[in-house]
Amino acid sequence: MDRASRKIEHIKHTLKLSSVESRPFDEIKFVHQSIPNINVDEVEINTTVGELNISSPIFINAMTGGGGEPTIRINRALARLAKKNDMGMAVGSQMAALKDRNERRSFEVVREENPNGVIISNLGSEATVEQAKAAVEMIDANALQIHLNVIQELVMPEGDRSFSGTLDRIKAIVEGLSVPVIIKEVGFGISKEVATKLANIGIKIIDIGGYGGTNFAKIENLRRDDTFDLFNDWGISTAASICEVKATHPFISVIGTGGIKTGLDIAKAISLGASAVGIAGLFLKQFHENNFEGLEATVEKLHFELKMVMTALGVKNIDDLRKVPIVISGETYHWLEQRGIT
Ligand code: FNR
Repeated sequence: MDRASRKIEHIKHTLKLSSVESRPFDEIKFVHQSIPNINVDEVEINTTVGELNISSPIFINAMTGGGGEPTIRINRALARLAKKNDMGMAVGSQMAALKDRNERRSFEVVREENPNGVIISNLGSEATVEQAKAAVEMIDANALQIHLNVIQELVMPEGDRSFSGTLDRIKAIVEGLSVPVIIKEVGFGISKEVATKLANIGIKIIDIGGYGGTNFAKIENLRRDDTFDLFNDWGISTAASICEVKATHPFISVIGTGGIKTGLDIAKAISLGASAVGIAGLFLKQFHENNFEGLEATVEKLHFELKMVMTALGVKNIDDLRKVPIVISGETYHWLEQRGIT
């Protein structure tokens, strides 16, 4: 199966798989503050991720590109959404478009729709420095995401089986590129050990892509004729992974992706130390069901909910939200205790 058909299948299976039941932040509780001493209209939600300044703490995370008219439509709508709300947006993997010029259109429309916004390129860790430069140039990107997707590859019958040299390739890209490099997991989380390896080669932004949202082990399983469910419940949860990275590397900016669905989820990810969150599956579903209006309404609701939570906690900005007291229980508490993270 070629890359383009595989991408369309990923979209179909994401829409089929419901992660509504997953509540990745249930074990994180805010401590209620009865005297917040603040008005709703004083709350500001702009944020800084590394050197990227954006008006919203929500990134539209990497999904699609290549694959013709349907992906052009999705990417145009997402880019319009990003422009309207001054949100950061990552495109899907550009590797296919680097190999075949016909695949470029769905990426180029993103920059056309949003000439001045924060747009992020995306490639896998097999990329060379030349490919990284070409991907950034294709959409005049403000940063490059390199995704790590070992589990997805292992579950794919046609997936990669050799994973050596990743860190050296990433290091060469960091040194060869003039824009920041963001390392990104796709649903299995980043550990503190991996964060240390990345910090040592100069990575300053990590999208922890934790367990609890879109699950590529399950999605790839739906594409297989046989069942290979070994990795269906594998991974570091979104909440635990934010803590793994942030507690050990306070100067790395963290994007908390993986199962974010409400403004309360966003507030909790930030209270654990994230500078922003990334959302993919929820936007894809909203666009599928309600077109651009669905996307607009979703972002409006998320921003509204986040501001309400911040008001209840008495915090006026994202930096202060990062410092509010929280209580962590259950599996997340035990995970962090055993991992020596306090
Ligand atoms: C993705 N994701 C993804 N990530 C990436 O780095 N490059 C890519 O090309 C893709 N492609 C892709 C396609 C589809 C259909 C989906 C749903 C997702 C992963 C995505 O950016 C994100 O990390 C995960 O989906 C987890 O976030 P949610 O969906 O739980 O909000």
